[in-house]
Amino acid sequence: VNIIVNKSNTRQHDDLKLALDAGVNLFITSLGSPKQVIIDAHKNGAKVVCDVTNLEHAKKVQDMGADGVIAVSAGAGGHAGPISPLVLIPWLQKELKIPVIAAGGIADGRSMAAAIVLGASAVSVGTRFIASTEAGVEQSYKDAVVKSSPEDIVMTTRVSGTPAAVINTPYVQKMGLDLPWYLKILKNQKLTKKYVVPLIHWMGMKQLEQAAAGPTWKTVWSAGQSVGLVNEILSCQDIMEKLVREYNEALLQAPKLK
Ligand SMILES: Cc1cc2nc3c(=O)[nH]c(=O)nc-3n(C[C@H](O)[C@H](O)[C@H](O)COP(=O)(O)O)c2cc1C
Repeated sequence: VNIIVNKSNTRQHDDLKLALDAGVNLFITSLGSPKQVIIDAHKNGAKVVCDVTNLEHAKKVQDMGADGVIAVSAGAGGHAGPISPLVLIPWLQKELKIPVIAAGGIADGRSMAAAIVLGASAVSVGTRFIASTEAGVEQSYKDAVVKSSPEDIVMTTRVSGTPAAVINTPYVQKMGLDLPWYLKILKNQKLTKKYVVPLIHWMGMKQLEQAAAGPTWKTVWSAGQSVGLVNEILSCQDIMEKLVREYNEALLQAPKLK
């Protein structure tokens, strides 16, 4: 279960309690300090892996007791970091004592094999599963993931104040990729910051939810550059089987590269 641990998520404590009571044993945290989640999860024998985009945050969560990090690299869907996976994965793996899970740009067996070769212990796949029969999102969002190319993915701060990868729809183009000037000023003022940052996040998340849930002209669809590797809508089972098959094929091919 994923817990967004920034201040705008007012239900994070209730969600965590509910999940722990239901016996969930693996948590992912994002966008804030995972301290409380780690404490509560560990008390219940559950493990916590934390989204990070750089070494500084990775070391912080390691010191807090995280069981692993998810290295969210450039090209990922959602709140992608700026660092290439070719660098981020081996860098974190070399510097940390806890396992590194690779995220960003992985949508087939070859990209999965590459991440494992780079030092990842596992992979986290997001964008590929938007184009799945089970994904509870609008059909046009799934179709957009299938049709888009990596060049259609742009980074915007309008969704949450933190750079997020979205498909460059006409609505995104109309709105621009940056926050309006007045929000940028309020976001950086000591007095207004603590109200404005959660508000930006809340408004952006509502917009993402609405665009995913039903037809709207405000199409803000988050997806990463791996849209270029997604050519069809499949069931989750087929996606998993295909990933494993392609991964094994990639490993069989690898010795021929010697
Ligand atoms: C639509 C969408 C929503 C996401 N929401 C979250 C989230 O709430 N919390 C989180 O930790 N990561 C979130 N992510 C990031 C994914 O968990 C994962 O790190 C990322 O999608 C991996 O890169 P990929 O999309 O290239 O596979 C989201 C990604 C997408 C595409």
